[in-house]
Amino acid sequence: MLEVSEIDVSYGHAKVLHRVSLNLRQGEMVFVVGRNGAGKTTLLQTISGLLAPNTGRILFHGEEIHGLPAEKLARKGIRFVAQDKKVFSELTVRSNLELASYATGESLDEAVGRLTRIYPKFQEFLERKAGGLSGGQREILLIGRALVGKPKLLLIDEPTEGLAAIVIEDIFRILNEMKIEKVSAFIVEQNLSIVSRLADRIYILKEGKIIKEMTDRAEIGRTADLEGYL
Ligand SMILES: Nc1ncnc2c1ncn2[C@@H]1O[C@H](COP(=O)(O)OP(=O)(O)OP(=O)(O)O)[C@@H](O)[C@H]1O
Ligand SMILES: [Mg+2]
Repeated sequence: MLEVSEIDVSYGHAKVLHRVSLNLRQGEMVFVVGRNGAGKTTLLQTISGLLAPNTGRILFHGEEIHGLPAEKLARKGIRFVAQDKKVFSELTVRSNLELASYATGESLDEAVGRLTRIYPKFQEFLERKAGGLSGGQREILLIGRALVGKPKLLLIDEPTEGLAAIVIEDIFRILNEMKIEKVSAFIVEQNLSIVSRLADRIYILKEGKIIKEMTDRAEIGRTADLEGYL
């Protein structure tokens, strides 16, 4: 469904991604791992339309999408959950969801139902300002918001970064449910335990280049092997 071929992406004269090619099939959960500064965020921002590649092509269901603006890609069902965990902090949790339900046409009841199903504690938090949520709860709200309107492709940038171990397991559980429901997702993550438990495939990005694709389940399960590539 998603095919990235040979993209180069630069900030001014500084080239960050070099001939990056990768793909995602319907219903797959694919991870990108790599050190800080490897270009992971740049890659997700390019797929979601926030950056345009200098060269190369990105196809989504066979249609060229590189260079299209993010709003247009959102309407095609591509959602991006950014690394900064930014919510509308002055709005309540319910209103944060309402914006997404308004944008997608899904009913607010359905959106709230999904969020409280994936994380029942939100039942008590619906009328609270989102700014008061913990980092983990903000991430869960952002994932819940991205799922509103049943997106075709979810791009998630480091969902567990900076979170306490117990919340990381909540995020794991939520991602695992998405995997069972065959939500197509392309996720950047540095927590290798999360990656090895969830990944259908893994791409390893080093200094802006894909240096390895892992497809073998047994290999994916060995985090020590993964570490060796970083
Ligand atoms: N807006 C920008 N302008 C100029 N250079 C940038 C910009 N954003 C990122 N870079 C540079 O591009 C490279 C890749 O950054 P990117 O944020 O994509 O890496 P990353 O793999 O997501 O890192 P992290 O794990 O820290 O999130 C880095 O060298 C970074 O300094
Ligand atoms: Mg990043």
